[in-house]
Amino acid sequence: MTSRIIAVEKFDLIVFGASGDLSARKLFPALYRRHRDGQIPDGARIIALARSLDSAESFTQWVRQKLQQFITAAEYDEGAVKKFLACIHPLKLDVNDETGWPELKKKLKNSPNPICAFYLAVAPDLFGPICDKIAAYGLVTPNARLVVEKPLGRDGQSARAINDAVGKVFQENQIFRIDHYLGKETVQNLMALRFANGLFEPLWNSAHIDHVQITVAETLGLEARAAYYDHVGALRDMVQNHIVQLMCLVAMEPPRSDASNDVRDEKLKVLRALKPITAANVEQVTVRGQYRGGVAQSHESGKARSYVEELGSPSNTETFAAIKAEIQNWRWAGVPFYLRTGKRLTERCSEIIVTFRAIPHSIFGAGNEQNAAGRSNLGTVHPNRLVLRLQPDEGVKLWVMLKDPGPGGMRLSYMPLDMSFSKAFGIAVPDAYERLLMDVVRGNQTLFMRRDEVEAAWDWVDPILEGWSTCQMAPKPYPSGSWGPSAAIALIERDGRSWYDSSSAGTD
Ligand code: BG6
Repeated sequence: MTSRIIAVEKFDLIVFGASGDLSARKLFPALYRRHRDGQIPDGARIIALARSLDSAESFTQWVRQKLQQFITAAEYDEGAVKKFLACIHPLKLDVNDETGWPELKKKLKNSPNPICAFYLAVAPDLFGPICDKIAAYGLVTPNARLVVEKPLGRDGQSARAINDAVGKVFQENQIFRIDHYLGKETVQNLMALRFANGLFEPLWNSAHIDHVQITVAETLGLEARAAYYDHVGALRDMVQNHIVQLMCLVAMEPPRSDASNDVRDEKLKVLRALKPITAANVEQVTVRGQYRGGVAQSHESGKARSYVEELGSPSNTETFAAIKAEIQNWRWAGVPFYLRTGKRLTERCSEIIVTFRAIPHSIFGAGNEQNAAGRSNLGTVHPNRLVLRLQPDEGVKLWVMLKDPGPGGMRLSYMPLDMSFSKAFGIAVPDAYERLLMDVVRGNQTLFMRRDEVEAAWDWVDPILEGWSTCQMAPKPYPSGSWGPSAAIALIERDGRSWYDSSSAGTD
């Protein structure tokens, strides 16, 4: 089966920060793939803005090199690359002075393309000044869109300031705040599973669900991001946005439709129903960690260095966070959401695990001993689990109890009904940015965060940060290559549960 390609309208995509890391790793590869597959029509232009630019040729040559680096050899097609590079119009522009702005205005004024999207792949302190310049040069048209990347602030106050600055120039329905986790295939499939099947929704509540886990584990460490990461940490970098957004999609009420504001209204209600975590309970329900040296990852030689060694100075920043979150509403009262994320963990894997309640009575006995009637038991009955795997190997597993095959009588096994999306649909799962960039052109905001969502997420996260500071909660050390500090294991085990481990068949 192949995916259906519907070309988008012709557009001008104006990329600020086109020579930066995000453009190299994500934007150009995603745009190349959409162009190669015919989704980007002839005549569309990518206006690549960079402060230092020797020549248009040297820039397109740089893009070619980055494509070679960040897409697979199988995806790299010289003919397709040449055609793609022809859509790129590099322009030297400085956001701090007038360099390049008149030329940009000229290019856009005479453009035959109906859609114009400004992508700010730059630090957030530049969002306001760039928007002001865009307005001053008269470039805001009704069909203009603005795309901004996280971090959207480092707390509620700074997020509001950013939102005010961009909101002065663009209407909310023109602003696309990217959270690339929302563009991941499995995340969209979560909505399809919940709302296009009759099977799950009647069970999707505290009467039938015991708890939910969301794990986003990385093997990477600090890399070359010290300047950004050490001021941010795992809570702001991953929880405030990606993990909280996943939690909202699991927990939200069925929206009236898939229209962007219907979905975002429901997500907002979840954010507002989150039980506050403050200095009073932060030590009981959160864990901070920081990696020490340990097992080297496959691409490295020798022993992995600690965060502090990589950084080159002492630091109190957390590279791991675990939280027991609670949603205070009728659907979810009493159902904990255990969230965890960290760098330098055992493996790279992002999963949402919904664990259903145990059956009320087992006709098969309760363990491995003999039952009251003297018959031997037939295997432990484990609760059903729905596992949505975001990466790697995107797919869905539903763990169920089945009979062991064979003539020897009834013995039970815990087995997954297992669907890998790439195997089932026979196509490579697209990168999140491919979907999100095309949605920007289509003007579909469903997978983008609305202003009030971002601010409500900070309203929940800010008191956690304040609690950590009031209680002087230093990050607990954990060895690189482990699953984080032992306190994170204790966090869930205190409740008689354990973190899902795909390698041990998901049993408790
Ligand atoms: C980014 C974070 O938003 O997401 C990074 O800033 C993190 O620290 C990355 O590594 C993870 O994204 P993905 O898609 O590789 O899971």
